[in-house]
Amino acid sequence: MRPTDPRFTGIGLGLRAPLAEAIVHRAPPSLRWLEVSPENHVNRGGSFVRMLHEARAKFPLVTHGLTMCPGSTDPLDRAYLTDLAAFVRAVEAPWHSDHLCFGHRDGVFLHDLLPIPFTRDAAAHTAARVREAMAALPVPFALENLSWYAHPGEAELDEAAFIRAVLDASGAWLMLDVNNVYVNARNHGFDAREFIDALPLDRVVQMHVAGHLVAEHGFRIDTHGEPVCDDVYDLLHYALRRTGPVPVLLERDHNPPPWEALVDELDRLDAIWRDATGVTP
Ligand SMILES: [Fe+2]
Repeated sequence: MRPTDPRFTGIGLGLRAPLAEAIVHRAPPSLRWLEVSPENHVNRGGSFVRMLHEARAKFPLVTHGLTMCPGSTDPLDRAYLTDLAAFVRAVEAPWHSDHLCFGHRDGVFLHDLLPIPFTRDAAAHTAARVREAMAALPVPFALENLSWYAHPGEAELDEAAFIRAVLDASGAWLMLDVNNVYVNARNHGFDAREFIDALPLDRVVQMHVAGHLVAEHGFRIDTHGEPVCDDVYDLLHYALRRTGPVPVLLERDHNPPPWEALVDELDRLDAIWRDATGVTP
């Protein structure tokens, strides 16, 4: 059974320093929970500690990591996993997620979320590392589908089959990023709804939506720095109809707009969530 938590229903927002004051003091009723990245808080002090403390006093928190890179070939960083488990426990997150990506090589962190080759070997390798990470975490773990711009080498599987293979072999859950599906569908020329239909939707614990940049020749770049586009709102509605009432997070990491504009996005997401699920959060 998919993990659920009654504190996490409807719409959430990523806790980011430029938004923190407004989140704590001017949140609309449509905002019900927050997502935090442990990497922004572990072993940091000052304003980061204060921000987390104030946010926690008002909202339930779920955690979303940036640096596990389960597709990498280096051994997992045990110190990172120990700190991560302690943080997840301290904020009482109901589950933890990170990206289905590659990102380290020979001890060097590449500071990017790079795609893993869609091969059976890579799926088995990644699933083994995910199982190892899951054993170190105190809560269920979910993997997020990436936006990616070029596939490394020859693919044996399509992306949905690759995701399914990793989830089946590891027992991890799925963090479905609807904007990433849309960006990939537009850049690589496939149907976003068919892609969503091909995923193991019973394994979705949470979704992400975000805005992306439309660059030259219509190429889409996942920036988290633009408003969510109409097509992504429509795709979210479609996905929620298929999954049922899974909590949805708005990611806004760059170019923070006036708070009123973000509130409009949260309210629109809330209306879509209620309409698609038939549930009042
Ligand atoms: Fe995301």
